[in-house]
Amino acid sequence: MRRTRIAEVLSTERIGQTVNVKGWVRFFRQGRFLLLNDGSTIHNVQAVVDQEHFDEARIRKLTTGAAVSVTGEVVASAGTGQVVEIFVSDVTILGEAQPSEVQKTILQPKTHTLETLREQAHLRFRTSTFGAVFRIRHALAFAVHQYFNDRGYFNIHTPIVTAADAEGAGEMFQVTTLPLDRLPRTPDGLIDYGEDFFARKTSLTVSGQLEAELAALALGQVYTFGPTFRAENSNTSRHLAEFWMIEPEVAFNDLQDNMDLGEDFLRYCVRYATVHCADDLNFLHQREVKAEAQLLKDQRNEMPLLERLAFVIDNEFARLTYTEAIDVLRDSRPYKKGRFTYPVEWGTDLQSEHERYLVEKHFKKPVILVDYPAETKAFYMRLNQPDDQGRETVAAMDILFPGVGEIMGGSQREERLDVLRQRCDAFDIPAEEMWWYLDTRRFGTAVHSGFGLGFERLVMFVTGMGNIRDVIPFPRAPKSADF
Ligand code: 4AD
Ligand code: MG
Repeated sequence: MRRTRIAEVLSTERIGQTVNVKGWVRFFRQGRFLLLNDGSTIHNVQAVVDQEHFDEARIRKLTTGAAVSVTGEVVASAGTGQVVEIFVSDVTILGEAQPSEVQKTILQPKTHTLETLREQAHLRFRTSTFGAVFRIRHALAFAVHQYFNDRGYFNIHTPIVTAADAEGAGEMFQVTTLPLDRLPRTPDGLIDYGEDFFARKTSLTVSGQLEAELAALALGQVYTFGPTFRAENSNTSRHLAEFWMIEPEVAFNDLQDNMDLGEDFLRYCVRYATVHCADDLNFLHQREVKAEAQLLKDQRNEMPLLERLAFVIDNEFARLTYTEAIDVLRDSRPYKKGRFTYPVEWGTDLQSEHERYLVEKHFKKPVILVDYPAETKAFYMRLNQPDDQGRETVAAMDILFPGVGEIMGGSQREERLDVLRQRCDAFDIPAEEMWWYLDTRRFGTAVHSGFGLGFERLVMFVTGMGNIRDVIPFPRAPKSADF
């Protein structure tokens, strides 16, 4: 008999029909009620097992975690909590579960710490929380492609191994086949990369942007969606060493167009999740409300998850310049009372405490900051006219979200060859290695803009998960690359 997914059994009227479902045992209650989940939905199906019909050995194997196949009639449920259940006529154990003591506690339907689950990557998929998170992650990835496809963008696969440091931040993981214990040397003692696989020094990419710019200046509007790698030693709840980034790049768009695109795109993704992942979001919402009940009032989110999502869908983001943000911060109570740990000074990077104040306390909604000091941002961002005090800024934009901070970073690109060359020099970027990038400014250069959305930060916001390691199946972070 063909298997029916549990999502389908629960969502369609099948009373009186015989179905076969296959899944994993969540729980076997009172020697009679078997709760099964097959990953297709957050909901379990209840299968009623009449013990008299089955030998004891088989019943004993119906333990949490076991894979089973159940055949039976769909009947209206007498109990509360489910509309239908399956009255079992046959049950087969497909794979017994022999969990260790630790694994047993994990498989029990009670809350476990997310940290413990991170060490059990194979079992964490089996929990309701992570089932919900990864179904939502899938829906969001799908929404990304839907959004751009519907609007005539082309998906470009940019390289993972690259010789270019797009962000110029020197946080790259090197890729080499050279024997590390006996490196080939040039006559003057340097490492001879001519002997390496690609006959040059290569690394894992930190961004597909530079390559996407080449494509945008021919195909008009493109986007990348791929893994990116950063060897920054940030052991925080918002940083991964391997994360996924979405980078649209659009010819003829200026910074204003770029902001409009970023805001519309983010709203679309959040709305998509609320429409397509209602059950999973409801579950995560309840989970958060329960967890926060244990916290002091000022440690809780100001709005529960579903309200936060609705709020982003319904409200326009605040837009202001970096310079205006500095003024807001200097005028704030925490600044005046000396409660910020880091100084608030024009020309320095905003710290997460400052970003949080702007988003969560002052504006109480997502914020788009533009026109950052030139020294704090990457070489490819377009240089603005100096301000009335002669300070240099670039046409950068960062979008800040409650709970996650910077979710998106982008800019209008420097399309003027002479200015771009000066910026390369200022950042010590060897122009001869960047000939292919600089050449785009020689052959029909044009105003163009783009941004990078950190996919995991989006998933964090939508699921309400507090740690970025809990929204990617196999997190990579400093000193941590298990599985
Ligand atoms: O601001 P970033 O560094 O911008 C770029 O890489 C540009 N090339 C994007 C572009 O204009 N095409 O990174 C973009 C986003 C950040 O806003 C953040 O959401 C995410 O990527 N991000 C990270 N996410 C997880 N872990 C990390 N270590 C991240 N670093 C950046
Ligand atoms: Mg950034």
